[in-house]
Amino acid sequence: MSRKPIIAGNWKMNLLQSEAKELFEGIKSFVNDYTASQLPTVIIAPTFTSLCAVDSVKCNCGCGGNKISVAAQNCHWENSGAYTGEISVAMAKDAGCDYIIIGHSERRQYFSETDEMINKKAKAILAGGLIPIICCGETLEQREAGITDEHIASQIRAALSGISSEDVAKSVIAYEPIWAIGTGKTCDSVEANRVIAMIRNVVKEVAGESAADSIRILYGGSVKPSTIEEQMAQSDIDGALVGGASLKADSFNEIIANTMKVAV
Ligand code: 13P
Repeated sequence: MSRKPIIAGNWKMNLLQSEAKELFEGIKSFVNDYTASQLPTVIIAPTFTSLCAVDSVKCNCGCGGNKISVAAQNCHWENSGAYTGEISVAMAKDAGCDYIIIGHSERRQYFSETDEMINKKAKAILAGGLIPIICCGETLEQREAGITDEHIASQIRAALSGISSEDVAKSVIAYEPIWAIGTGKTCDSVEANRVIAMIRNVVKEVAGESAADSIRILYGGSVKPSTIEEQMAQSDIDGALVGGASLKADSFNEIIANTMKVAV
């Protein structure tokens, strides 16, 4: 089964609106030379305040696809109410988002997000017609203790609990080993592929073979233009969730271009 690759840029807590707009324009002028079918699914995830500075970019070839889609970096699972500082799925949709990143290790670590909260967010996102990008990953201590697979499998089982196979099939998972995030230490591609194949197997157990074949599973952690070709050449890696290298149009565009060389 061929899965369309995804290159997603997680801008984290960076860029003022004017800077976000400039970066967006730099990516837009690159993708405009291609049709949506030539490109991977390109997603940008600005801060909430910069969602208004970017837009999804529709393909003009008549295919109905997007050349750039927009993601929020988080959401609450309730529709509205007294949750100061939060935004709902409907609000993210209203601001132009098609995707929402959930369960990023930075949110689990600094904001005490639990597997249960991530499951509630995933369900709310799918119920609202958007697509969750569900992050998982192990710490260096967990890797050294040899419990990477069981930890990741339990994060995935919890995140997907009670979600229909059809909804699982359209979801996205990002495997981001915590020790590889922002450290310049990319996980070896063969090892990242092994963990991602293990995740696909867990998806098969919980949602069946067809969902496991369809779901796109990304790698994240110090992805650079120089690493993406080898990563995309792996059997189970369907794309990348990029942090630092997504903050400059040149490096993000090069990651997209290098992905097209091997995988679209
Ligand atoms: P870096 O690419 O900066 O390592 O960040 C990865 C990440 O956390 C994306 O969500």
